Amino acid sequence: MQKPKGTYDIFGDRANKMLYLRKLINALMDKYNAKYFETPIFESSDLFHRGVGETTDIVSKETYDFKDRGDRALTLRPEGTAGIVRCFIENKLYAESLPLKAWYFGPMFRYERPQAGRFREFYQFGFEAFGTCDPTMDAEAISILVNFFKMLGLKGIKVNINSLGDSESRDNYRQALVSYFKPYLEQLCDDCKNRFEKNPLRILDCKVDTDKEFMKNAPKMLDYLNKESKEHFNKVKEYLDAMKIDYVVNSNIVRGLDYYTHTVFEVEADIPGFGSQNVLGAGGRYNNLVENIGGPSIPGVGFAIGLERLLLALEMEKIDINYNSYPEVYVIPMGIEAKAKAVNLVNSLRLSGFSVEMDYDNRNLKSNFKSADKLGVKYIIIIGEEEIKSKVLTIKNNESKEEYKVDLENLIEFLDEKLGDYDED
Ligand code: HAM
Repeated sequence: MQKPKGTYDIFGDRANKMLYLRKLINALMDKYNAKYFETPIFESSDLFHRGVGETTDIVSKETYDFKDRGDRALTLRPEGTAGIVRCFIENKLYAESLPLKAWYFGPMFRYERPQAGRFREFYQFGFEAFGTCDPTMDAEAISILVNFFKMLGLKGIKVNINSLGDSESRDNYRQALVSYFKPYLEQLCDDCKNRFEKNPLRILDCKVDTDKEFMKNAPKMLDYLNKESKEHFNKVKEYLDAMKIDYVVNSNIVRGLDYYTHTVFEVEADIPGFGSQNVLGAGGRYNNLVENIGGPSIPGVGFAIGLERLLLALEMEKIDINYNSYPEVYVIPMGIEAKAKAVNLVNSLRLSGFSVEMDYDNRNLKSNFKSADKLGVKYIIIIGEEEIKSKVLTIKNNESKEEYKVDLENLIEFLDEKLGDYDED
C-alpha cells in the first residue's frame, strides 16, 4: 500500500520540526491575543462554493467533493477561512467583544498537480481577525507574517501588497478590464477566455498569459480606487512604514480566492532556486465574507502560511529548527524481581515531570548502554537487588560518565538539581 499522490507522512525530523513550529506559533499568537480554533476538516460543499467562490480555480477544479452515506454534499476544506467564518457565525461569536482574533493549524486539501512546494494535502497556519475595518488590523496581519519569519531567522522574503478596493472601485475596475481585454480575447488562454466573462481580475495573475505584450499595459487596480479605498490603502502603508516593515506595491497581486476587498498581500520566498511555488504565506481583508455566508455585516482580515513551503525555505537558508525531545533518564532494571520496583520508579519520575525511558526487555547492561546513547539520555539509573535492599541508587551521567550514589528518597531533588538547566532550554 502506498500513500495517495500529493500527500506525505509526518514522522522523524519533519515531525519534530512541525511540532516545534506549532509551539512557536502558539507562543507568538498569545502575544497578539489570538485564540486557537479548530473547525471540521470537512464542511458542507456549499460553504466553500459561497465562501471561496464558484469561479475560482480552487472551487471549480481543486476541491475534494464527496457524498456521505446520508447523501450530504461535503468537501474536504481547501482552506481555513471559510470554516472559521462559519464557526464565527454559527456560534454567534460576533456577540462577544470584538475584534476577535483566531488562529488555526491543520491540513487543507486541494486537487492540484503535485510538485516541489505543492501538495494535495498540505498544512496551513492561519490567522483571522473579525470586527474591525481599521487599516491597523491589515498592517497587524502583515506584521505577524513578517515577524514570524524574522523570529525563525528567515532572511529571503519579499512582501507584496496591493488593494482591490471596495465593491464600487472593483466594479469600475472590472469594467475597465473588460474593455481593455475585449480586443485581445482571441489571444487569451482558454482559462482566461472563461475568466473574461466571470472574473476578469484573475486574468492578471494567469501564469500562461503573463508574458504576452498586451498584459503589460493592462489597467492598474490602484488607478481605479475610490477616495475611501485609497485612504484605507495609504493608511496600511503608513502603519507598515511605522513598523519598519519592507514591502513592495505590486498591482498584479489579485489572489485566487473571491472573498477579498481592500488590502491583499503575498509574502514570497526570495531565495535563489526556490522554484515556482514560492508564495510562503498570503491573505487579505474580506469585508463581505461573513455576510455572504449568512452572518451579520462584519469585516475580517487574515492570512495563511503553507508549512511545507516554510520548511523548504528554512532548509534552503540552512536554518536548523530541529526540535528533538530526548528522554532525560533511562532506567535499567537488573533481573525480573527489580522490574516492579523499576516500573514504580519510572512512573513516579514521570509524574514528577521528568521524561523517562526504560528497558522493557531484560537486556544486558551493554545493549542498554547502547540504547541510552542512541536516545541521547542524560542520566542512567540501574536498579537491582542490591539497590532495592540498600535503597541507594547508582546514577550515571551518560555524558561525563561520572557515577553518583543517591538515596532513593533524595532522587527527585538530585535530578531536579542536575536536570533543571535542561528543562529551561
Ligand atoms: P492561499 O493563498 O490559497 O490563501 O493559501 C495560503 C498559503 O497556503 C499559500 O501561500 C501557500 O503557502 C500554501 N498553499 C496553498 N496551496 C498549497 C498547496 N497545494 N501545497 C502546499 N502549500 C499550499 C488561503 O488559503 C487563504 N485562506 C488565506 C487567508 C486567510 N486569507 C484571509 N485569511
